[in-house]
Amino acid sequence: MSKEKLRVLMVEDNPTDALISKKRLQRDDAFEYDITHVVSGEDGLLTLEKHSFDIMLLDYNLPKKSGLETLREIKAKNIEMPIVMITGQGDEQVAVTLIKEGAFDYLPKRDGYEDSIPLMIRKTIAEFRAKLERENLQKEIALKKEELEKTNAKLMELDKMKSDFVANVVHELRTPLTIIRGNLDNIDKGFAGEVQPQQKDILGDIFRVINRLSRLVNDLLDISKIESGKMELNKESLDIVTLAGEAVKTFEVLAGSKKIGLIKEFPNKAVTVNADKDKLTQVFINLMGNAIKFTDKGNVVVRIIDLQKEAQVEIQDTGSGIPLDQVDKIFDKFVRVVAEKKEGTGLGLPIAKDIIVLHKGRIRVESESGKGSRFIFVIPK
Ligand SMILES: Nc1ncnc2c1ncn2[C@@H]1O[C@H](COP(=O)(O)OP(=O)(O)OP(=O)(O)O)[C@@H](O)[C@H]1O
Ligand SMILES: [Mg+2]
Repeated sequence: MSKEKLRVLMVEDNPTDALISKKRLQRDDAFEYDITHVVSGEDGLLTLEKHSFDIMLLDYNLPKKSGLETLREIKAKNIEMPIVMITGQGDEQVAVTLIKEGAFDYLPKRDGYEDSIPLMIRKTIAEFRAKLERENLQKEIALKKEELEKTNAKLMELDKMKSDFVANVVHELRTPLTIIRGNLDNIDKGFAGEVQPQQKDILGDIFRVINRLSRLVNDLLDISKIESGKMELNKESLDIVTLAGEAVKTFEVLAGSKKIGLIKEFPNKAVTVNADKDKLTQVFINLMGNAIKFTDKGNVVVRIIDLQKEAQVEIQDTGSGIPLDQVDKIFDKFVRVVAEKKEGTGLGLPIAKDIIVLHKGRIRVESESGKGSRFIFVIPK
């Protein structure tokens, strides 16, 4: 195998030292050395203007321009080449300065120091190349990071545009919905002529769909408000027991029609929390709505536990339960586990979770497929 050619610039004013060093290198078999020898710092600098080298051996003790001055001038020119300084004996202090000034390494001129030159060169070249590789890698990483940051910023901007668009569209949907409902209401009440029983039935169906659409529009509006950080809480001191009682009442008819028991396990006294009444009511409605929707027989228990610094609420059902591998996903938007024909969009839980998190509370679920679910949340007092 042919040896790699290494271009060496040797700055050495002592002809004997230079000769021995060159001879020693010629005997070395690690590289094929192409040595350019000059006798002063000035000549070294001039040579560097015209040619490039893989390594430089620079004598510290030079007449006229010193080794240190020469080193500084080379460094100022940003030439990418390792420089090994050949220092006098016992120049340890000098060596420290030289390294600080950018020398790659140093070799003291002891008797027979020439024998150490090949090893020094090998070691220096290996370390220098490893260093270059590291630096290139770091540059590449920095570049990639910058690229990623730019892409990320762009994606965030696009995401915001999309959210704003959705928010606007959803907002615009509200007005025509209100008008449709108002007009239907007028027809239903007979303001546009007598309504036949069959027509009333059809109107009833339309009302149900309109209500569903309104709920969806309101849910989407809530989500977009939360996501854009525009959902504000009107916190007040309120009794969560009373609030939960009212929520349970609104579900009595529905639960009754499905023959599901609604059980309240409440403390005997008020439990005051600091919360937004409407938003907290919505959490109860979303969780209880789910419990009743996904339960066909048995009970739904609403439990309130008075803890020291927070109120804990549990809504427990004997319904379909949630498969283990889906439990982590149900708080994400638009996730619906059962493909059954149950009405819904998959926004109730994400909204409930966001509201609770805005209150600095926590929500989680314990569930077993086929046995039922227990949603547990806490709200600070
Ligand atoms: N109590 C529960 N029992 C069984 N599955 C549940 C229960 N609560 C939620 N889930 C599952 O989690 C999914 C997400 O619930 P979420 O309330 O977010 O949406 P949804 O009820 O389907 O629709 P929406 O609430 O928007 O009307 C449900 O579709 C259902 O699969
Ligand atoms: Mg729901």
